[in-house]
Amino acid sequence: MVHDPAAALLAWFAERGRHELPWRATRDPWAVLVSELMLQQTQVARVLPRYEAFLARFETPAACAAAPVGAVVAAWAGLGYNRRAVQLHRCAATLVDRHGGTLPDDLVALAALPGVGPYTARAVLAFAFERDVGVLDVNARRVLSRVHGRPVIQADADHAVPAGRGWSWNQAVLDLGASVCGRSPACAACPLGRADACGWQRAGRPEPDPWRPTRPQSAFAGSDRQGRGRLVAALRAGPVTADDLAATMGWPEDPTRAERVASTLEADGLAMVSPSRVWTLPS
Ligand code: ADE
Repeated sequence: MVHDPAAALLAWFAERGRHELPWRATRDPWAVLVSELMLQQTQVARVLPRYEAFLARFETPAACAAAPVGAVVAAWAGLGYNRRAVQLHRCAATLVDRHGGTLPDDLVALAALPGVGPYTARAVLAFAFERDVGVLDVNARRVLSRVHGRPVIQADADHAVPAGRGWSWNQAVLDLGASVCGRSPACAACPLGRADACGWQRAGRPEPDPWRPTRPQSAFAGSDRQGRGRLVAALRAGPVTADDLAATMGWPEDPTRAERVASTLEADGLAMVSPSRVWTLPS
């Protein structure tokens, strides 16, 4: 048996990871930002033919900001969600105006950029600046929730990163979620399962799968108070976007409830929400 699960996953990634993905060959923060925005709702196979052409046309934030927004929308062809192209153009202008045309190496400053939420901000920190933050997209959330045997929050993802390995660790978790640890997991092929590191597999894979919690089991489990507690715990680790709110509060299927209960935290002075619907602790 392998005794260091993190080492087992990193070794699996070294051998099996998708090392040919072009955004993994760069640490240029602008290139990483562009790749992350492209990958957010578009599959890897559809991003691949567009990514390098886009960067050849808009090599820097300054080049992007100087172009008409229409040129950026045109270069976004085939990627869908064209609003992201408009936001990227606004983001480039903000980078030029406020950050000397470079990307800040700071979570709060990154998350304040147009079109950049906490997920993208952390992805830039991990994949460009090689910082030890947890990148928690839908794939990583599934992997880590199974490993922990319960729904995870941002702080769990941050704590899981082995020191100094933020880049490889996060890429490895994304690859595991995209292959072995998909919706129907192939546990026999999983390096974490083989290292006996997956709580869900150790428990015999009981339903519900921990990344989709269902019914309340006690007065506290599933209560509004539990959701409030989860959100405040998550906000201590950093901002939470509207998109992540329901999953963070433990109600991935019920965003309406999440919004309503989060508003009670705001009314109580325990949380704040920005006009762009990013939740933070009160300032
Ligand atoms: N999805 C989001 N970020 C990614 C990355 N760096 N590699 C592959 N897929 C991703």
